[in-house]
Amino acid sequence: MRKLLPALLVAGVVMSPALGRAQEPAAPAGQIVGDAPGEAPDATRGTEQAVAEGHGGEAGGEHATPHYPLKKPAELSWTFAGPFGHWDLGQLQRGLKVYKEVCSNCHSMNLVSFRNFSALGYSDEQVRALAAEYQITDPAPNAQGEMFQRAGIPSDRLPSPYPNPEAAAAALGGAHPPDLSLIAKARSVERGFPRFLLDIFPWSQYAEGGPDYIHALLTGYEQAPANVTIQPGTYYNPHFISGPALAMAPPLSDGQVTYDDGAPATMEQYSRDVSAFLMWTAEPHLVERKATGFVVMIFLIGFAIMLYLVKRRVWADTPH
Ligand code: HEC
Repeated sequence: MRKLLPALLVAGVVMSPALGRAQEPAAPAGQIVGDAPGEAPDATRGTEQAVAEGHGGEAGGEHATPHYPLKKPAELSWTFAGPFGHWDLGQLQRGLKVYKEVCSNCHSMNLVSFRNFSALGYSDEQVRALAAEYQITDPAPNAQGEMFQRAGIPSDRLPSPYPNPEAAAAALGGAHPPDLSLIAKARSVERGFPRFLLDIFPWSQYAEGGPDYIHALLTGYEQAPANVTIQPGTYYNPHFISGPALAMAPPLSDGQVTYDDGAPATMEQYSRDVSAFLMWTAEPHLVERKATGFVVMIFLIGFAIMLYLVKRRVWADTPH
Protein backbone atom coordinates (compact mmCIF):
# COMPACT_ATOMS: atom_id res chain seq x y z
CA MET A 1 0.00 0.00 0.00
CA ARG A 2 2.82 2.40 0.88
CA LYS A 3 4.37 1.91 -2.54
CA LEU A 4 1.04 1.99 -4.35
CA LEU A 5 0.05 5.48 -3.20
CA PRO A 6 2.98 7.43 -4.73
CA ALA A 7 2.62 5.38 -7.91
CA LEU A 8 -1.05 6.37 -8.16
CA LEU A 9 -0.19 10.02 -7.57
CA VAL A 10 2.46 9.96 -10.30
CA ALA A 11 -0.02 8.31 -12.67
CA GLY A 12 -2.49 11.09 -11.84
CA VAL A 13 0.02 13.81 -12.72
CA VAL A 14 0.94 12.12 -16.00
CA MET A 15 -2.64 11.39 -17.00
CA SER A 16 -4.34 14.63 -16.00
CA PRO A 17 -3.52 16.75 -19.10
CA ALA A 18 -4.68 13.91 -21.35
CA LEU A 19 -7.91 13.45 -19.37
CA GLY A 20 -8.49 17.19 -19.40
CA ARG A 21 -8.31 17.29 -23.17
CA ALA A 22 -10.51 14.26 -23.61
CA GLN A 23 -13.34 16.04 -21.79
CA GLU A 24 -13.25 19.14 -23.95
CA PRO A 25 -16.78 20.39 -24.58
CA ALA A 26 -18.00 19.97 -28.15
CA ALA A 27 -19.74 22.26 -30.63
CA PRO A 28 -18.19 25.71 -30.29
CA ALA A 29 -20.50 28.51 -31.41
CA GLY A 30 -17.70 30.17 -33.36
CA GLN A 31 -14.36 29.39 -34.85
CA ILE A 32 -10.91 30.64 -34.06
CA VAL A 33 -8.83 31.52 -37.10
CA GLY A 34 -5.20 32.42 -36.64
CA ASP A 35 -2.92 34.75 -38.66
CA ALA A 36 0.19 32.66 -38.02
CA PRO A 37 0.12 28.88 -37.70
CA GLY A 38 0.27 27.47 -34.21
CA GLU A 39 0.40 30.82 -32.52
CA ALA A 40 -2.95 32.51 -32.80
CA PRO A 41 -5.24 30.54 -30.49
CA ASP A 42 -2.87 30.84 -27.58
CA ALA A 43 -2.81 34.61 -27.94
CA THR A 44 -6.47 34.54 -26.89
CA ARG A 45 -5.98 32.23 -23.93
CA GLY A 46 -5.21 32.98 -20.34
CA THR A 47 -1.46 32.68 -19.79
CA GLU A 48 -2.08 30.44 -16.80
CA GLN A 49 -3.81 27.89 -18.97
CA ALA A 50 -1.26 27.95 -21.76
CA VAL A 51 1.49 27.26 -19.24
CA ALA A 52 -0.49 24.63 -17.37
CA GLU A 53 -1.10 22.63 -20.50
CA GLY A 54 2.35 23.13 -21.91
CA HIS A 55 1.53 22.91 -25.59
CA GLY A 56 2.12 26.43 -26.82
CA GLY A 57 2.46 25.93 -30.56
CA GLU A 58 1.97 22.39 -31.71
CA ALA A 59 4.21 20.82 -34.32
CA GLY A 60 3.35 20.50 -37.99
CA GLY A 61 1.90 24.01 -38.39
CA GLU A 62 -1.45 22.84 -36.99
CA HIS A 63 -3.37 25.10 -34.60
CA ALA A 64 -3.48 23.89 -31.04
CA THR A 65 -7.09 23.08 -30.21
CA PRO A 66 -8.30 25.85 -27.92
CA HIS A 67 -9.48 24.69 -24.54
CA TYR A 68 -12.77 26.22 -23.45
CA PRO A 69 -13.51 28.25 -21.47
CA LEU A 70 -10.69 30.51 -22.64
CA LYS A 71 -10.69 32.19 -19.21
CA LYS A 72 -11.40 30.48 -15.92
CA PRO A 73 -13.99 32.08 -13.65
CA ALA A 74 -12.81 34.11 -10.67
CA GLU A 75 -13.53 32.52 -7.27
CA LEU A 76 -15.90 34.81 -5.40
CA SER A 77 -16.85 34.62 -1.76
CA TRP A 78 -20.44 33.43 -1.28
CA THR A 79 -22.38 33.32 1.99
CA PHE A 80 -23.43 29.74 1.23
CA ALA A 81 -19.84 28.49 0.77
CA GLY A 82 -18.09 26.19 3.24
CA PRO A 83 -19.44 23.85 5.91
CA PHE A 84 -21.27 26.61 7.82
CA GLY A 85 -22.66 28.43 4.80
CA HIS A 86 -26.04 30.15 4.91
CA TRP A 87 -28.32 31.90 2.41
CA ASP A 88 -28.46 35.66 2.35
CA LEU A 89 -32.23 36.05 1.87
CA GLY A 90 -31.89 39.69 0.83
CA GLN A 91 -29.50 38.65 -1.91
CA LEU A 92 -31.80 35.83 -3.06
CA GLN A 93 -34.76 38.24 -3.24
CA ARG A 94 -32.69 40.64 -5.34
CA GLY A 95 -31.61 37.71 -7.53
CA LEU A 96 -35.25 36.75 -8.06
CA LYS A 97 -35.97 40.34 -9.10
CA VAL A 98 -33.14 40.26 -11.65
CA TYR A 99 -34.36 36.89 -12.97
CA LYS A 100 -37.93 38.15 -13.20
CA GLU A 101 -37.15 41.45 -14.88
CA VAL A 102 -34.32 40.34 -17.17
CA CYS A 103 -33.62 36.63 -17.56
CA SER A 104 -37.25 35.44 -17.65
CA ASN A 105 -37.69 37.31 -20.95
CA CYS A 106 -35.87 34.36 -22.51
CA HIS A 107 -35.26 31.61 -19.91
CA SER A 108 -37.77 29.32 -18.18
CA MET A 109 -37.30 27.67 -14.78
CA ASN A 110 -39.67 24.79 -15.10
CA LEU A 111 -38.55 22.88 -11.99
CA VAL A 112 -39.35 25.83 -9.70
CA SER A 113 -42.92 26.63 -8.58
CA PHE A 114 -44.02 30.06 -7.45
CA ARG A 115 -44.89 28.62 -4.04
CA ASN A 116 -41.22 27.68 -3.53
CA PHE A 117 -40.51 31.40 -3.13
CA SER A 118 -42.13 31.40 0.31
CA ALA A 119 -38.74 30.01 1.44
CA LEU A 120 -37.20 33.35 0.45
CA GLY A 121 -39.32 35.16 3.03
CA TYR A 122 -42.38 36.07 0.94
CA SER A 123 -45.89 35.84 2.37
CA ASP A 124 -48.63 33.74 0.72
CA GLU A 125 -50.26 36.90 -0.68
CA GLN A 126 -46.98 38.04 -2.21
CA VAL A 127 -46.46 34.62 -3.80
CA ARG A 128 -50.02 34.66 -5.20
CA ALA A 129 -49.51 38.17 -6.58
CA LEU A 130 -46.19 37.17 -8.18
CA ALA A 131 -47.75 34.08 -9.81
CA ALA A 132 -50.67 36.14 -11.12
CA GLU A 133 -48.25 38.36 -13.07
CA TYR A 134 -47.55 35.44 -15.42
CA GLN A 135 -49.81 34.03 -18.12
CA ILE A 136 -49.74 30.24 -18.03
CA THR A 137 -51.04 27.81 -20.63
CA ASP A 138 -53.23 25.49 -18.61
CA PRO A 139 -51.96 21.90 -18.90
CA ALA A 140 -55.48 20.62 -19.67
CA PRO A 141 -57.65 21.86 -22.55
CA ASN A 142 -61.04 23.53 -22.03
CA ALA A 143 -64.41 21.89 -22.82
CA GLN A 144 -63.95 22.66 -26.54
CA GLY A 145 -60.60 20.85 -26.55
CA GLU A 146 -58.59 24.03 -26.95
CA MET A 147 -55.56 24.94 -24.86
CA PHE A 148 -56.12 28.20 -23.03
CA GLN A 149 -54.16 30.78 -21.06
CA ARG A 150 -54.90 31.89 -17.51
CA ALA A 151 -53.22 33.89 -14.75
CA GLY A 152 -50.63 31.90 -12.79
CA ILE A 153 -51.32 30.29 -9.40
CA PRO A 154 -48.71 29.38 -6.73
CA SER A 155 -48.49 25.73 -7.81
CA ASP A 156 -47.49 26.66 -11.40
CA ARG A 157 -43.89 26.36 -12.55
CA LEU A 158 -41.99 29.37 -13.91
CA PRO A 159 -42.88 29.25 -17.61
CA SER A 160 -40.87 29.85 -20.76
CA PRO A 161 -41.80 32.94 -22.76
CA TYR A 162 -41.56 30.78 -25.90
CA PRO A 163 -44.00 28.02 -26.87
CA ASN A 164 -41.15 25.57 -27.62
CA PRO A 165 -37.33 25.48 -27.86
CA GLU A 166 -37.41 25.72 -31.66
CA ALA A 167 -39.37 28.99 -31.54
CA ALA A 168 -36.89 30.35 -28.99
CA ALA A 169 -33.89 29.32 -31.11
CA ALA A 170 -35.40 30.89 -34.23
CA ALA A 171 -35.86 34.18 -32.37
CA LEU A 172 -32.47 34.19 -30.63
CA GLY A 173 -29.69 33.57 -33.10
CA GLY A 174 -30.14 29.81 -33.48
CA ALA A 175 -29.60 28.66 -29.89
CA HIS A 176 -32.42 28.14 -27.42
CA PRO A 177 -31.97 29.55 -23.92
CA PRO A 178 -31.54 26.61 -21.52
CA ASP A 179 -33.89 26.17 -18.58
CA LEU A 180 -32.18 27.82 -15.61
CA SER A 181 -33.58 25.69 -12.73
CA LEU A 182 -30.48 23.53 -12.38
CA ILE A 183 -27.94 25.48 -14.41
CA ALA A 184 -25.81 26.36 -11.35
CA LYS A 185 -25.21 22.66 -10.73
CA ALA A 186 -24.91 21.82 -14.42
CA ARG A 187 -22.01 24.18 -15.11
CA SER A 188 -18.78 24.10 -13.26
CA VAL A 189 -15.49 24.65 -14.95
CA GLU A 190 -12.87 21.89 -14.67
CA ARG A 191 -10.29 22.72 -12.03
CA GLY A 192 -7.59 20.29 -13.16
CA PHE A 193 -5.19 18.25 -11.05
CA PRO A 194 -4.45 18.72 -8.16
CA ARG A 195 -7.08 21.36 -7.38
CA PHE A 196 -10.04 19.04 -7.81
CA LEU A 197 -8.50 16.84 -5.10
CA LEU A 198 -7.78 19.76 -2.74
CA ASP A 199 -11.36 20.98 -3.23
CA ILE A 200 -12.80 18.10 -1.21
CA PHE A 201 -10.98 18.95 2.01
CA PRO A 202 -13.12 20.49 4.75
CA TRP A 203 -11.14 23.73 4.90
CA SER A 204 -11.68 24.47 1.22
CA GLN A 205 -14.81 22.45 0.25
CA TYR A 206 -15.06 24.28 -3.03
CA ALA A 207 -18.49 23.66 -4.50
CA GLU A 208 -19.30 27.10 -5.92
CA GLY A 209 -18.08 26.45 -9.46
CA GLY A 210 -21.60 27.00 -10.82
CA PRO A 211 -22.30 30.48 -9.41
CA ASP A 212 -18.70 31.53 -10.09
CA TYR A 213 -19.18 30.47 -13.73
CA ILE A 214 -22.53 32.24 -14.15
CA HIS A 215 -21.15 35.43 -12.62
CA ALA A 216 -18.07 35.30 -14.87
CA LEU A 217 -20.23 34.65 -17.94
CA LEU A 218 -22.62 37.53 -17.25
CA THR A 219 -19.84 40.05 -16.60
CA GLY A 220 -17.25 38.64 -19.03
CA TYR A 221 -18.39 39.88 -22.47
CA GLU A 222 -15.58 41.47 -24.45
CA GLN A 223 -14.78 42.83 -27.87
CA ALA A 224 -13.64 39.84 -29.98
CA PRO A 225 -9.87 39.99 -30.65
CA ALA A 226 -8.84 40.56 -34.27
CA ASN A 227 -7.69 36.96 -34.83
CA VAL A 228 -11.00 35.43 -33.75
CA THR A 229 -13.95 35.11 -36.13
CA ILE A 230 -17.28 34.43 -34.51
CA GLN A 231 -20.53 33.41 -36.16
CA PRO A 232 -22.98 36.22 -36.90
CA GLY A 233 -25.56 36.59 -34.12
CA THR A 234 -23.16 35.42 -31.41
CA TYR A 235 -21.28 37.47 -28.83
CA TYR A 236 -17.65 36.93 -27.85
CA ASN A 237 -17.25 35.80 -24.25
CA PRO A 238 -14.02 34.08 -23.14
CA HIS A 239 -15.82 32.65 -20.10
CA PHE A 240 -18.34 30.63 -22.14
CA ILE A 241 -17.82 26.92 -21.47
CA SER A 242 -18.17 25.54 -24.99
CA GLY A 243 -16.83 28.06 -27.47
CA PRO A 244 -15.50 31.57 -27.94
CA ALA A 245 -18.97 33.11 -28.38
CA LEU A 246 -22.57 32.40 -27.42
CA ALA A 247 -25.99 33.37 -28.75
CA MET A 248 -26.97 35.30 -25.60
CA ALA A 249 -26.46 39.04 -25.99
CA PRO A 250 -24.98 40.65 -22.85
CA PRO A 251 -28.16 40.64 -20.72
CA LEU A 252 -27.16 43.01 -17.90
CA SER A 253 -26.09 46.62 -17.71
CA ASP A 254 -25.71 49.13 -14.87
CA GLY A 255 -28.93 50.66 -13.56
CA GLN A 256 -31.20 48.17 -15.37
CA VAL A 257 -33.00 46.81 -12.28
CA THR A 258 -34.09 49.00 -9.37
CA TYR A 259 -33.32 47.52 -5.97
CA ASP A 260 -35.41 48.67 -3.03
CA ASP A 261 -32.94 47.68 -0.29
CA GLY A 262 -30.13 50.10 -1.20
CA ALA A 263 -27.81 47.52 -2.79
CA PRO A 264 -25.75 49.03 -5.64
CA ALA A 265 -27.56 48.97 -8.99
CA THR A 266 -24.53 47.73 -10.92
CA MET A 267 -23.99 44.90 -13.37
CA GLU A 268 -21.53 43.34 -10.92
CA GLN A 269 -24.11 43.30 -8.12
CA TYR A 270 -26.92 42.02 -10.38
CA SER A 271 -24.82 39.14 -11.61
CA ARG A 272 -23.72 38.16 -8.10
CA ASP A 273 -27.31 38.23 -6.87
CA VAL A 274 -28.76 36.30 -9.78
CA SER A 275 -25.95 33.69 -9.55
CA ALA A 276 -26.67 33.17 -5.83
CA PHE A 277 -30.39 32.91 -6.66
CA LEU A 278 -29.68 30.28 -9.33
CA MET A 279 -27.64 28.30 -6.79
CA TRP A 280 -30.65 28.38 -4.47
CA THR A 281 -33.03 27.17 -7.19
CA ALA A 282 -30.59 24.38 -8.07
CA GLU A 283 -30.09 23.27 -4.47
CA PRO A 284 -32.66 24.83 -2.13
CA HIS A 285 -31.75 22.49 0.74
CA LEU A 286 -28.01 23.15 0.61
CA VAL A 287 -27.84 24.76 4.06
CA GLU A 288 -29.84 21.96 5.74
CA ARG A 289 -27.65 19.39 3.99
CA LYS A 290 -24.49 20.99 5.35
CA ALA A 291 -25.92 21.32 8.87
CA THR A 292 -26.94 17.65 8.86
CA GLY A 293 -23.53 16.67 7.53
CA PHE A 294 -21.86 18.52 10.38
CA VAL A 295 -23.89 16.68 13.04
CA VAL A 296 -23.17 13.38 11.27
CA MET A 297 -19.42 14.08 11.34
CA ILE A 298 -19.52 14.90 15.08
CA PHE A 299 -21.42 11.68 15.70
CA LEU A 300 -18.98 9.60 13.65
CA ILE A 301 -15.96 11.09 15.44
CA GLY A 302 -17.57 10.41 18.86
CA PHE A 303 -18.51 6.92 17.76
CA ALA A 304 -14.95 6.20 16.57
CA ILE A 305 -13.49 7.32 19.91
CA MET A 306 -16.00 5.17 21.76
CA LEU A 307 -15.22 2.12 19.62
CA TYR A 308 -11.53 2.57 20.31
CA LEU A 309 -12.09 2.72 24.08
CA VAL A 310 -14.33 -0.34 23.97
CA LYS A 311 -11.71 -2.24 21.99
CA ARG A 312 -9.06 -1.41 24.58
CA ARG A 313 -11.34 -2.58 27.36
CA VAL A 314 -12.29 -5.84 25.65
CA TRP A 315 -8.68 -6.76 24.82
CA ALA A 316 -7.23 -5.46 28.11
CA ASP A 317 -6.68 -8.91 29.70
CA THR A 318 -5.40 -10.63 26.57
CA PRO A 319 -1.57 -10.94 26.60
CA HIS A 320 0.16 -9.98 23.31
C1 HEC B 1 -32.46 37.89 -25.03
C2 HEC B 1 -32.61 36.59 -24.46
C3 HEC B 1 -31.82 36.24 -23.20
C4 HEC B 1 -31.80 36.90 -22.00
C5 HEC B 1 -32.55 38.17 -21.60
C6 HEC B 1 -30.97 36.12 -21.13
N1 HEC B 1 -30.47 35.03 -21.81
FE1 HEC B 1 -29.24 33.64 -21.07
N2 HEC B 1 -29.17 32.67 -22.85
C7 HEC B 1 -29.87 33.08 -23.98
C8 HEC B 1 -29.55 32.19 -25.07
C9 HEC B 1 -30.10 32.27 -26.48
C10 HEC B 1 -28.64 31.23 -24.56
C11 HEC B 1 -27.97 30.09 -25.31
C12 HEC B 1 -26.60 30.55 -25.76
C13 HEC B 1 -25.82 29.54 -26.57
O1 HEC B 1 -25.88 28.33 -26.25
O2 HEC B 1 -25.12 29.96 -27.52
C14 HEC B 1 -28.43 31.57 -23.16
C15 HEC B 1 -27.60 30.88 -22.32
C16 HEC B 1 -27.48 31.14 -20.96
C17 HEC B 1 -26.71 30.35 -20.04
C18 HEC B 1 -25.97 29.07 -20.35
C19 HEC B 1 -24.56 29.31 -20.80
C20 HEC B 1 -23.88 27.97 -20.97
O3 HEC B 1 -22.87 27.72 -20.29
O4 HEC B 1 -24.35 27.14 -21.76
C21 HEC B 1 -26.83 30.93 -18.80
C22 HEC B 1 -26.18 30.46 -17.50
C23 HEC B 1 -27.65 32.08 -18.95
N3 HEC B 1 -28.04 32.18 -20.28
C24 HEC B 1 -28.00 32.91 -17.92
C25 HEC B 1 -28.77 34.04 -18.06
C26 HEC B 1 -29.09 34.93 -16.97
C27 HEC B 1 -28.68 34.72 -15.52
C28 HEC B 1 -29.85 35.93 -17.49
C29 HEC B 1 -30.41 37.12 -16.77
C30 HEC B 1 -29.49 37.98 -16.14
C31 HEC B 1 -30.00 35.65 -18.93
N4 HEC B 1 -29.34 34.50 -19.22
C32 HEC B 1 -30.71 36.46 -19.81
C33 HEC B 1 -30.73 34.16 -24.08
C34 HEC B 1 -30.97 35.08 -23.08
